[in-house]
Amino acid sequence: MKSSASIAMGKTSNPNQLQRLGILLSGRGSNFLAIARNIRENKLPNVEIAVVISNVADAAGLSAAKDLGLPTALYVSKGRPRADHDQDLIACLRGHKVDLVCLAGYMRLLSPEFIAAFPNRILNIHPSLLPAFPGLDAQQQAFDYGVKVAGCTAHFVDEHLDHGAIILQRAIPVLESDDAHSLASRILVEEHIAYSEAIARVASGEYEIQGRRYLQRANA
Ligand code: GAR
Repeated sequence: MKSSASIAMGKTSNPNQLQRLGILLSGRGSNFLAIARNIRENKLPNVEIAVVISNVADAAGLSAAKDLGLPTALYVSKGRPRADHDQDLIACLRGHKVDLVCLAGYMRLLSPEFIAAFPNRILNIHPSLLPAFPGLDAQQQAFDYGVKVAGCTAHFVDEHLDHGAIILQRAIPVLESDDAHSLASRILVEEHIAYSEAIARVASGEYEIQGRRYLQRANA
């Protein structure tokens, strides 16, 4: 039996209330676009995108968000102390009344203050089956290691790199014909499915976290 201190419950008191997403990205933005498409196609009925924030001025994902008419913000992080930059992000996300923060290719570590500002409310998608291959170029790491199964992980974010409780994973075989590029492309297809599925599960509020274990309740 786990102690109650190790249990965190989903926070959604009213499942009919839309969960407002704050998307953080640094580049291409294909994961963000997959989420936006699933919302548009009513495959994510419980959520809406409140704001898309980039830390990189020429991030393609930022332009794509503007083209979709979504609220956007740019806070260039280069050369700024992490804590100062993150205070701007926290204020922006709070200003847009964000319930869930979704890292979608946000290639910058978050400060402890940021993590504490959104406890169990920050999600990330990572292109490996964690805890294998955290950090940069995970697909290349997996390919070079010679693994036979690769994939992606949707997880909560805590103060350690690519480390928080795992919401779900999707696995694919590594083919003999693969190179690191083709492997990354096939993992990306899985990421686009996994991230929306993880967001839907968390947005339902029907879950609990026991230690490192994410447990979905039956009626989600
Ligand atoms: C994705 O593969 C995502 O998993 C990865 O960056 C890429 C962003 O692509 N994130 C990480 O490696 C985080 N540790 P996208 O901008 O097209 O979504």
